[in-house]
Amino acid sequence: MVTLDKLSSEELMQLEDRYGAHNYHPLPVVLAKGEGVYVWDVEGKKYFDFLSAYSAVNQGHCHPKIVKALTDQAQTLTLTSRAFYNDTLGVYEKFVTEYFGFDKVLPMNSGAEAVETAIKIARKWGYEKKGVAENQAQIIVCEQNFHGRTTTIISFSSDPDANTHFGPFTPGFIRIPYNDLDALAEAAKQPNVIGFLVEPIQGEAGVYVPDDGYLAGAKELCSKNNILFIADEVQTGIARTGKLLAVDHENVKPDILILGKAISGGVYPVSAVFANDDIMMVIKPGQHGSTFGGNPLAAKVAIAALEVVTDEKLAENSERLGKLFRAEMNRIIEKADLIVKVRGKGLLNAIIVNDTEQSKTAWNLCVELKNNGLLAKPTHGNIIRFAPPLVMTEDQLMECVAIIEKTIMNFQK
Ligand SMILES: Cc1ncc(COP(=O)(O)O)c(C=O)c1O
Repeated sequence: MVTLDKLSSEELMQLEDRYGAHNYHPLPVVLAKGEGVYVWDVEGKKYFDFLSAYSAVNQGHCHPKIVKALTDQAQTLTLTSRAFYNDTLGVYEKFVTEYFGFDKVLPMNSGAEAVETAIKIARKWGYEKKGVAENQAQIIVCEQNFHGRTTTIISFSSDPDANTHFGPFTPGFIRIPYNDLDALAEAAKQPNVIGFLVEPIQGEAGVYVPDDGYLAGAKELCSKNNILFIADEVQTGIARTGKLLAVDHENVKPDILILGKAISGGVYPVSAVFANDDIMMVIKPGQHGSTFGGNPLAAKVAIAALEVVTDEKLAENSERLGKLFRAEMNRIIEKADLIVKVRGKGLLNAIIVNDTEQSKTAWNLCVELKNNGLLAKPTHGNIIRFAPPLVMTEDQLMECVAIIEKTIMNFQK
């Protein structure tokens, strides 16, 4: 038998390689501890986390208030299922709907489940409220979208890695270019369109920020054509881009809002779909659900995590440090041929490495960043996403900038 606490990084990586499915390609670092903006590997080396578990750990690792909410509730009541009422769910639902300004929430666990939920609600609304003929509903989605990994969601992905050999696919989706209001206006004319599902910034694709006015224009087109504007803010939401929601940059109110990841501060899987009564009430008992969705642990953790976002002014910090970070990256870009561009909003940013999408340069740069004490990962090809916890201080950010600068300037292709 193996004694787990004695294993080295190398041995632990071998275990994952030998016994786990190979559905990820992690950077070679084995983490054992996290606190705030830092993580430590099993040998005790300290790193800045510049990925935040894909923007789930916005509140910082092991935030004491969130961990306390989890451990207190874990000793009291963990799961009742929705077969019965419990004393936490309603309290959470009141809190979270007031927090985000919707009539109702439907609680789930993962981001993909929440997207699936939004698709089901939108379709049902399309048949029962808009009057679309049965099985004819269409949802407009964007090229290069990322909304999760389920069979329906990958059915409308344009990424061959996501959908090759996973067919047959779910019909009912029209794909248009991102950041293209003309394309949306054209697609919206097609009969039976009931929704437009969009990421306010395309995170996984490589942090593509649409033009100013795109989201407001899209919402207007949706309203004009009686189409639901469905915002997937699983990655962009909860202060990541410098506002509570990324749609807040354009004062857009989605008809359906999808959240996940940081709604729990990365402490526990929690996701949620929000809508007002005229939309949400199409779902009746028995038509949708989840054994774990909205369980007492999730409810308590999410309340604590959202209180941290407000109490610690994480949106404001993200906005301020994001501007500083992009200014510093632009300063480095002026003198380094290796990086051609930085883009992003708040503390969701990416740098573009001066090489082909097929090259290993971005990967190798991330390995060097790791060696110098900062963890980040390429999203696609030559794009590296930078998304540190939002509890970062200015001094810490400048330390990170120094690591990035040193790594870029010393990097040999
Ligand atoms: C925009 C967006 N939607 C949905 C998801 C899926 O979330 P999960 O991995 O929790 O299923 C992600 C994950 O990265 C995402 O970025």
